[in-house]
Amino acid sequence: MKCRFLIAAALAASVAVPATATELEVTHWWTSGGEAAAVAEFAKAFNAGGDTWIDGAIAGSGGVARPIIVSRIIGGEPMGATQLNHGRQAEELIEAGLMTDLTDLAVKEGWADFVNPTSLLDACTVDGRIYCAPVNIHSWQWIWLSHAAYEKAGVPVPTNWDEFTASAPALRAVGVVPLAMGQQSWQTSGAFGVLTVALAGPEVWLKVVKDKDVDTVMGPAYTAVFEAFGAARQLSDGADIQDWNQATNMVITGQAGGQIMGDWAQGEFQVANQVAGEDYTCLPGLGVNKIISTGGDAFYFPLVDDADIKAAQLRMASQLMSKEVQVAFNLKKGSLPIRGDVDLSSANDCMKQGLEILASGNILPDGNQHLSPDTNTQLEDLMVEFWNDKSITPAEVQKGYASIIADAD
Ligand code: BGC
Repeated sequence: MKCRFLIAAALAASVAVPATATELEVTHWWTSGGEAAAVAEFAKAFNAGGDTWIDGAIAGSGGVARPIIVSRIIGGEPMGATQLNHGRQAEELIEAGLMTDLTDLAVKEGWADFVNPTSLLDACTVDGRIYCAPVNIHSWQWIWLSHAAYEKAGVPVPTNWDEFTASAPALRAVGVVPLAMGQQSWQTSGAFGVLTVALAGPEVWLKVVKDKDVDTVMGPAYTAVFEAFGAARQLSDGADIQDWNQATNMVITGQAGGQIMGDWAQGEFQVANQVAGEDYTCLPGLGVNKIISTGGDAFYFPLVDDADIKAAQLRMASQLMSKEVQVAFNLKKGSLPIRGDVDLSSANDCMKQGLEILASGNILPDGNQHLSPDTNTQLEDLMVEFWNDKSITPAEVQKGYASIIADAD
């Protein structure tokens, strides 16, 4: 009896049940297998705290979800919490006074002391106030390669971009598509960014993305990248797919040699029980320059009048940043945690490479930390058109790119 009482008391002490358990609708675009497994960790933790996570997943990736999320908030139908990329996506909502200021919580919990790199918190900060809880670091700078595909072709798994393009004919000869690329516009635009960082170098890329320097877009380093990207277009012929995770699936099943994609692709390999280094290889910086970008996801909380919801929003924000939730979520998501003081010894080889690069400091901001959502959309539309229409020349797309950057804010 006494023992049972003690166990019950210990349990009650470990689960701080909120005074008013609250339902919170949470919107996000995590709908692939790996993403769903990861976000379930957030829901599990929130529910274990006594509140209820009402899942508001929006299918079709960020490009589809973000306008829906933003228009609901502007239109007065806010959700309790939402995923966005940390960066400029919530800027207008914050300026319009529609988002909850998390500064007091952040100061109380000392976020600035453990968030690493500090740029993640900067990306949540507007006019000195913190409006989001960063939950991970996702990097775009990777190519994922299928061991089964290269084995079938009888050639070694490439170790860099040049070897990758050189191996394409061998893959074609055995019916394998060299490069899996889905049709959503952000995929082609993202891949172009990765190729730019690898071939032209991070400083050149930053001159365009950060300083909006049109001369750099028209200069020789970018010319070479537009040409390389133009030549790569034929590598995805035969990949008749839309979604990024369908492209990852082509790599997993050996139907494609590789995919340029952010490290969220790792979640898909994981749910397919594939092992990094055995079934697939990941090359940061396309094997040219070991670098990662430090974008990712953050949770924002629309401002509401209801005091119970406000309190639940703060409970969620605090939990998302906690050590336990950071580890559980990021191990499934394939992303790196936002705090350096957690144990990630069970991370796979690719995550370990990411952690080492992060520690080395060879990092970049994410493009959408510098470009407005509007500029990003214009670049995405341009690059998907270029990818699909081989009659557009690299010189033509370069001019189009330069005129978007000239007007970028
Ligand atoms: C997000 C990732 C997500 C990916 C694909 C990115 O914008 O940061 O968390 O997995 O989109 O849906």
